Amino acid sequence: MNLTLQPATQLQGRVTVPGDKSITHRALLLGGLSNGPSRIDGFLDSGDCRATLGCLQALGVEIERPGAETLLVRGRGLHGWREPEDVLDCVRSGTTMRLMAGLLAGRPMYSVLRAEAQLRRRPMDRVITPLTAMGAQIAARDGNRLPPMTIVGQSLQGADHTLPVASAQVKSCLLLAGLYAEGTTTVRESGPSRDHTERMLRGRGVLVASEGLVHSVTGPIQHLDALDVQVPGDFSSAAYLIVAALLVSGSEIVVGNVGVNPTRTGLLDALRAMGALIELENERDEGGEPVADLRVRTAELRGTAIGGEVVPRMIDEFPILALAATQAQGETRVRDAAELRVKETDRVATTVEALRALGAQIEAAPDGFTVLGPTPLRGAAVDGAGDHRLAMTLAVAGLIARGGTTVLGAECIADSFPGFGETLGQIAGGAQ
Ligand code: S3P
Repeated sequence: MNLTLQPATQLQGRVTVPGDKSITHRALLLGGLSNGPSRIDGFLDSGDCRATLGCLQALGVEIERPGAETLLVRGRGLHGWREPEDVLDCVRSGTTMRLMAGLLAGRPMYSVLRAEAQLRRRPMDRVITPLTAMGAQIAARDGNRLPPMTIVGQSLQGADHTLPVASAQVKSCLLLAGLYAEGTTTVRESGPSRDHTERMLRGRGVLVASEGLVHSVTGPIQHLDALDVQVPGDFSSAAYLIVAALLVSGSEIVVGNVGVNPTRTGLLDALRAMGALIELENERDEGGEPVADLRVRTAELRGTAIGGEVVPRMIDEFPILALAATQAQGETRVRDAAELRVKETDRVATTVEALRALGAQIEAAPDGFTVLGPTPLRGAAVDGAGDHRLAMTLAVAGLIARGGTTVLGAECIADSFPGFGETLGQIAGGAQ
């Protein structure tokens, strides 16, 4: 599927974005482990979250859909999952594979986690090595590094882990394994990654101790309370609309009901440092997560330097930040972001290549990139490389590029933002 865009004159209006991907995964998984039914309202019905849902069903968890945006997860308790008859399909979802590995490592069952080609290239040793230190028995391809993964559940012991890279997927995997382990499991992060797992475990009655970047849980936990979850809009999806409104002259939009957990909103800090004025309105707390409406107006941007602690707080937003930087005055330098190379694609390489094809001045670095702006972009046919975040970035570029822009392979956008083209069309009138 291709998405074709024409230059937009101004973006106006109020829109919402689909539910948060990370929170939906966790609400499904923890719902399936709870004692009794949990409702999930506003869940994200995307390719990645369906992968988690499918794995849970294969483990015997019943999930109903009583409304278009509501799921009812009939939790079977921490010890109620049954051995899956067939392989568990994580499709393209790294979160599904890594969190599932933590949950299955300590269960007395045999399971195989499979993946599509894109996910088969992503490193799993980052979870296999620490889980093995807790007593897990896991094998994987290429010297226990790449999917698929085979897990023969074992009794686990708590361990003290120091993570070499800030990763919420790895942190969550180990804390979830820690629910089943004997003794204390500690995770020491190198930077502040998203904390939805800790928040949701606490909401279900588990004591997760956090002091700065050190988190621990003492197991074995016997019981998770059922918990109804209202999923806020995904900040990482709102990011494309925010940058679109900043770049298309004369725009003013409101993106309503967006999760603004500070472990997710590093992009706001970066954009504000570049001169953007983005207002948070109607700030509130919903189910243990901060939520707000975001008002964005067009702004003149200037280059900035991004590195250090903000990187994990905006880890999914670097392709769209790179696009913003092409329109900013001067140099934008991103460093300390080598993690980008092991996302859905090598996002340093794919972002640099795709934005260059539109005329941007951008150079790759081992752990980031440097952009020189402002540069007028020219429309072209560009490939999203099967990466939803790159494809959405290119679509936003199409709103400011001269002539028409066609994003090839735009179906991958549904991995995180189903209805993206329509939402853009609501504020732009230019997307087809
Ligand atoms: C996610 C964590 C991030 C992010 C991914 C979702 C999560 O990965 O890139 O899209 O739900 O935990 P890392 O924390 O491993 O960098």
